[in-house]
Amino acid sequence: MQAIDLPKGLASSNARNIAERLKSISGGKVLDVATGNGDFIRTLMKTLKDYGSFVGVDSSEKEVKSARKRLKGKSVRIMKMDAEDLQFEIDSFDTVCISYSLHHLDRVEKVLAEMKRVLKPGGHFIIQEPFRDGKQTEAQKTDILQHHWETEIDSLQGVTHHKTLAKQKILNVIRNLKLREVNIFESTHPVRCLFCSDKFRCDDPKNRQIMNESIREIDSAIDKLKKHPDLQIRTRLQEEGEKIKERIKKYGLAEASHVFFIGKK
Ligand SMILES: C[S@@+](CC[C@H](N)C(=O)[O-])C[C@H]1O[C@@H](n2cnc3c(N)ncnc32)[C@H](O)[C@@H]1O
Repeated sequence: MQAIDLPKGLASSNARNIAERLKSISGGKVLDVATGNGDFIRTLMKTLKDYGSFVGVDSSEKEVKSARKRLKGKSVRIMKMDAEDLQFEIDSFDTVCISYSLHHLDRVEKVLAEMKRVLKPGGHFIIQEPFRDGKQTEAQKTDILQHHWETEIDSLQGVTHHKTLAKQKILNVIRNLKLREVNIFESTHPVRCLFCSDKFRCDDPKNRQIMNESIREIDSAIDKLKKHPDLQIRTRLQEEGEKIKERIKKYGLAEASHVFFIGKK
C-alpha cells in the first residue's frame, strides 16, 4: 500500500512496517486467543505471507457466535474455550497470537504459558496490546480515559476488564516469555486500519461523527448506571462520564498507541 493512499497519521505510524514484517511470515496453523469477533484473524489473513488454517478461541458464547458469523465460509474454526486451559496438545500450532486482550484476562501469565505450550518450536508468537503511558496526544489520552471509565462499568457488571496496561508491564510480560528473534514495534495505528474503509474519517481526531458516536456511548452507559444501587458510585461515574464528554468535544478522540510483538519459540 502506497503512502499516497493513506491519511497522514496512518502513513506516519508503524502500521505499514508491521504489515511488511507479517508479510514475511508463513502462518501455517494459526491459533488466535481471545479472538472476540475475529478481527485479528481477518487482519492476519490479509497480511501473512500465507497460512494453512485458523483456530480462534474465546470464553464468551456471544463473541463465539459473532466470530462464526463474520468468518463464515473462511478456513477458520471458532471454539468456545478458556484460554487459561487450552484444549490442544503440546506443539500443535505454527503461530499463536493474542490481540487487544491481555487487559481482559484474569491471569495473563497463565494464558501466555498455555499459548507457548501449544506453539511448535520455531513457531511465531504474536502479541498486539495498547498501552496507556508514553507519548500520546490529548486525543489519545481521551480515548484511554474513556476506556478506563468503561472498564469500571464492566467490572460493576461482573465482567473482567482491566485498565489499559502500562507499556513496561507489556514489555515485562513479553520478556518473561523468553522467546528469540524478537521484534517489538510501537504504533499509533493498528495494522487493520490499512484495510479499513473508514481510515480517512478515523484519522481525524475531531471527526464529528466519531466524536458523536462516543458521546452517545457514554450517554447510554450513564443511562444504564441509573439503575445501580450505590448512589455514591453512580454519582461519581456520572460526573466522570460528563468530564470525558467535555474532553471529547475539546480534544477529539484517537486510538491509544500499542505494542506489536513478534517472537519465535
Ligand atoms: C477486546 S476483545 C478481543 C479483541 C480481538 N482479539 C481483536 O483483536 O479484535 C477481548 C476478548 O477476550 C475474551 N476473553 C477474556 N478472558 C478470556 C479467557 N480466559 N479465555 C478466552 N477468552 C477470554 C473476551 O471474551 C473478549 O472477547
